[in-house]
Amino acid sequence: MAGRPVRHDLPCELGFIPGLAALQRNKDRTQYSLSADNQVSCVLTQECAMIRAPASTDLSSLWMPFTANRHFKQHPKLLARAKGMYYYTADGRPILDGTAGLWCVNAGHGRAHIIEALTRQTMNLDYAPSFQLGHEDAFRAAQAVAELMPKGLDRIFFTNSGSESVDTALKIALAYHRARGQGQRTRFIGRERSYHGVGLGGISVGGISANRRAFSSMLLAGVDHLPHTHNLEHNAYSQGQPAWGAHLADHLEGLIALHDASNIAAVIVEPLAGSTGVLVPPQGYLEKLRQITSKHGILLIFDEVITAFGRLGDNTASEYFHVTPDLITLAKGISNAAVPAGAVAVRRDIHDTIVQASSSGIEFFHGYTYSAHPLATAAILATLEVYQDEALFQRARRLSPYFEQAAHTLRGSPHIIDIRNLGLVAGIELASRVGSPGARAAEVFDACFEEGVLVRYTGDTIAISPPLIVDQEQIDHIFNTVRKVLKNVR
Ligand SMILES: Cc1ncc(COP(=O)(O)O)c(C=O)c1O
Repeated sequence: MAGRPVRHDLPCELGFIPGLAALQRNKDRTQYSLSADNQVSCVLTQECAMIRAPASTDLSSLWMPFTANRHFKQHPKLLARAKGMYYYTADGRPILDGTAGLWCVNAGHGRAHIIEALTRQTMNLDYAPSFQLGHEDAFRAAQAVAELMPKGLDRIFFTNSGSESVDTALKIALAYHRARGQGQRTRFIGRERSYHGVGLGGISVGGISANRRAFSSMLLAGVDHLPHTHNLEHNAYSQGQPAWGAHLADHLEGLIALHDASNIAAVIVEPLAGSTGVLVPPQGYLEKLRQITSKHGILLIFDEVITAFGRLGDNTASEYFHVTPDLITLAKGISNAAVPAGAVAVRRDIHDTIVQASSSGIEFFHGYTYSAHPLATAAILATLEVYQDEALFQRARRLSPYFEQAAHTLRGSPHIIDIRNLGLVAGIELASRVGSPGARAAEVFDACFEEGVLVRYTGDTIAISPPLIVDQEQIDHIFNTVRKVLKNVR
């Protein structure tokens, strides 16, 4: 129905003026009139119909996640619609999406194939319980996901988010060891600075202190952490995987010696850490983790919530690095974020051990009301088709060298102390202002948004991770905007 005129009545108050301005800008395609009772009556194209004005919206009820609520509500940034590489603000301003939303819209926004699949599914099967019942798409989606996973990880458990995937993977690890008679293996090893979502399991194995501070008494007992791999002295301005740091994986041997392997269930790491500020694994590091965990019968979980589905130019980071873990957590790009969805890919024999451990009845007491929700499975199937039909992962791989060069042209710009990259991910680390870490990057984020480019920041690192449909001109525009903004940030 794109482009077809639809009648749309928008409530109009004084505060609605920004919306009117947007309508005026589009007036070649729009007829509108303002009635005495402040109703805008318009004949709009579909595009215009999505434009809404923020000023009349009361922002107070919504408690926003991972947001400086007071700052936001004084300086709101409202997105009204999205298409392709762009978001559009409520007043119709295009914002080039340099972050694929939150690392999730890998095929770009508003993909017709996905929307059509969702529309069909809504009409056909709005919801189906996934406990003791199934629907065909759930099985098809599991098979489609399994086909993209490393060989052997072909059993798929559906969740709704990355956080749920992480907690599910931790539970599977415990259930597996118990089922094979090693129920004392209950300890987990995560890594400093890692992000594994916000569930209690995820923040326990996670290593971002701000995410753990207030919840200290609720963290899982029996969790230890490897050191993180970030080191500017050795690795600043590395292009691709840094040469220094594989030996940091050897700390795992120390933790195993301390706790004894017989007590450790699993090690969980992000193969490439994103939310902590883009930490690229040193050459040989993941291989060592694999070798040590295998030697001691400890499961290795790769949290691939942001790295799976093409971010590094392959199906998964596991494939990219040629290191195969025992479980992989998935979300985000699995459904192009059109519907919340997540999954855990599990080594077949781990699944079989759990499923065959009891003679009958439910084998694994875990699941979500919305596991394999029909909309999620429709979105997953359609998304994976788009990835394949458009060869988007190969496109990401092809673009990676250009993206790398573009990122590193920023070297020498004010405040930058490191640039790191892999695939279509770049981290630009800024020197922190004395006494207010994160403030400088927050200003860069605000200023880039004003300039029409969406970037992300965590601490004082700016992260760039565009949809895989990005082109070279857009890559240049993203980094040139950061360059321009940095000149004016104090
Ligand atoms: C590596 C990793 N794991 C888990 C999560 C949590 O995903 P969600 O926000 O969908 O719960 C994220 C989110 O960014 C992530 O980057």
